[in-house]
Amino acid sequence: MTEGTRLIRGLEGVVAAETKLCDLDGANARLAYCGYGIDDLARRATFEEVCCLLWYGELPGKGQLDQLTVSLVAAREIPAQLVDAFRVMPTDTDPNRVLQAAVAMLGMFDPDANDNSHAANVRKAIRLTSQMATAICAHHRARSGQAPVPPAPDLGHAANFLYMLTGRRPTPVTTKVLDASLTLYAEHELNASTFTTRVITSTDSDMHSAVAGGVGALKGPLHGGAGEAVMRTLMEIGEIANVDAFTTKALADKRRLMGFGHRVYTAGDPRAAILKGMAEEACRQSGQFKWYEMAVKLYERVNAVKKLIPNVDFYSAPLFYSLGIPVDLFTPVIAAGRIAGWTANIVEQYDDNRLIRPRGDYIGSGRRTYVPLAQR
Ligand SMILES: CC(C)(COP(=O)(O)OP(=O)(O)OC[C@H]1O[C@@H](n2cnc3c(N)ncnc32)[C@H](O)[C@@H]1OP(=O)(O)O)[C@@H](O)C(=O)NCCC(=O)NCCS
Repeated sequence: MTEGTRLIRGLEGVVAAETKLCDLDGANARLAYCGYGIDDLARRATFEEVCCLLWYGELPGKGQLDQLTVSLVAAREIPAQLVDAFRVMPTDTDPNRVLQAAVAMLGMFDPDANDNSHAANVRKAIRLTSQMATAICAHHRARSGQAPVPPAPDLGHAANFLYMLTGRRPTPVTTKVLDASLTLYAEHELNASTFTTRVITSTDSDMHSAVAGGVGALKGPLHGGAGEAVMRTLMEIGEIANVDAFTTKALADKRRLMGFGHRVYTAGDPRAAILKGMAEEACRQSGQFKWYEMAVKLYERVNAVKKLIPNVDFYSAPLFYSLGIPVDLFTPVIAAGRIAGWTANIVEQYDDNRLIRPRGDYIGSGRRTYVPLAQR
């Protein structure tokens, strides 16, 4: 490397963009979107209002919200070719791979695919938010040998998602729990997947390519994939009575405990605090309280020894499970929320773009003389 900068492993603490979208105060466990505290947004706003906030910078009045809702509902259909593609995909493949492929395919059909203007990007953000939800559900129905459930125009985004997934209209409580979860996942500054979308955007590529990359980054268990890993851990533990023995062994084995720890939050993840309350209610209502109790006990044991904080994915796991969401769909559901923030970041990046191109510090051998193959 020629410049005099030093290596910062994992880019920890590096500021790579200015943003009006997210204010993340890790030392004080505070998170706000466009200035609005996450607690208020999760409890009092709908996901559609949050989308409006992220894409236009302001909470909508009734007229603007109605307009956006009409646009989101109108964008719910996905191309028949995509549904056909779901039918020929291996039924046991990871739904994250399918979602990544689906986003790429949606780009092939999008009328604004190669238009990177601000207005086109907002139109694509609306379409992708609706179409990704439909695609996740249609693929799940296809792999289960069921016909897709057409979107219901009278249902809001969260309720329609559960309806398309299960074929049943969800209760108001269930709807609110998913809606708030989507809001809590909607935006989180320069996390790995959002950074990925910004890097792809910075090459003047396009929104669908950037989002497909974001899905790939989100899938990893150190990022969004942690949610399903938490549920698999709870299932491995099996019963509350096993938590102590599990924790002792896991800590002795220096096992990485999914749903714990965070790069930025040192004083706790504010989203986890909200999700904990919602998980308690949802697990109780669904008759699956055991998973919530087990998660609380696991947290108490781990925190007592390692002081690790639970992150957003810890309580969302029992919560999603209590909603009847299949474990391998947890990450796609997180993507269905994060799409609002990914697209808002992509719009912001295009509006003030410069190629993102860091350096690598070469630590290999010095300059060597090429030796022809026959002489090696
Ligand atoms: C989120 C995460 C990747 C942040 O990682 P990071 O900032 O790079 O922190 P590191 O991986 O360098 O970990 C720092 C220390 O804390 C420990 N640690 C962090 N998270 C841990 C976890 N979940 N379980 C066990 N130990 C953990 C590490 O072992 C390391 O200890 P050491 O210094 O003694 O080696 C990490 O906490 C993690 O892997 N969590 C589990 C996955 C998860 O829940 N991801 C979702 C995040 S929202």
